[in-house]
Amino acid sequence: MKKTAKAHVNIALIKYWGKKDKKWNLPLTSSLSFTVDKFYTKTTVEYKPLLTEDHLYIDDKFITGVEYDRVKQFMDMVRHLYNIPYFAEIVSYNFVPKKAGIASSSSAFAALALAATSAFGLELDKKALSALARYGSGSASRSICNGFAVWHEGYDHISSYAEEIEGFDDMALLVCMVNQNEKKVDSRTAMNVLEIYPQYKEDWITKTNILFNDMIHAIQIKDFVKVGITAETHAELMHQLIENTGNTYLTDVSREIIELTKWLRTQGYLVYATMDAGPNVKIILRKDSIKDVISYYE
Ligand code: PMV
Repeated sequence: MKKTAKAHVNIALIKYWGKKDKKWNLPLTSSLSFTVDKFYTKTTVEYKPLLTEDHLYIDDKFITGVEYDRVKQFMDMVRHLYNIPYFAEIVSYNFVPKKAGIASSSSAFAALALAATSAFGLELDKKALSALARYGSGSASRSICNGFAVWHEGYDHISSYAEEIEGFDDMALLVCMVNQNEKKVDSRTAMNVLEIYPQYKEDWITKTNILFNDMIHAIQIKDFVKVGITAETHAELMHQLIENTGNTYLTDVSREIIELTKWLRTQGYLVYATMDAGPNVKIILRKDSIKDVISYYE
């Protein structure tokens, strides 16, 4: 009753921000992402009949408090859905800076969903695994997939899951680390304030749906420039929304990197910026152009 699983971080090109159902973690809109190969989480789950509660270790630290509660809530759901009568020892390692807007919760809950079910001998298909990971953290639904993934917003636990779509082979992401410290307001808290701003919420849903369709079309016709511009536009839209609703993740350095990226485009480089719930900026580019632009970002 012990299994180890690994899942990689994904970076959204069309972001998930806001929920239509908090209990089940159903998003306001569909989203689309790209799973990276460098950053990942490795998690071991062992069910132990003698335990009277779950034990959680992250990066060799025994975890209590809010972080533990979130994992406990997830494990309670796994036990409930799959009739598992045991508590578990969970040991997790992040090969990615935690809570710095590099979406470590995406790889964390995807690895946990996989380890927690396989440790009990279950073999869930990708769709069910993705829905389960989503319950832990929305973006984790997409980390069950390799490459490009669409998370269908759905309307209940079963229908809200991510699946792989065909994308580009030569796309890469350059992560500009502005700050590795844990962020002050986590994405869950920050996105939930949207409920008190119905006018912003409606506008966000409308614009996201349009950009989501543009992105799908751009990927289908393999238009890299349109993918990049659409991703950057949507990331900026999300950060505008976050600021309008009382939070800020971007710093002056983040903004300088975004400006540098826009300037590099005027010089003919195909580089685009995207930012999540943290100050770090990810640059979307083609693999073969990394060597031409990397020195500008150092
Ligand atoms: O999965 P969460 O609750 O950590 O939310 C992720 C939110 C963003 O990273 C900002 C956007 C996204 O779609 O990944």
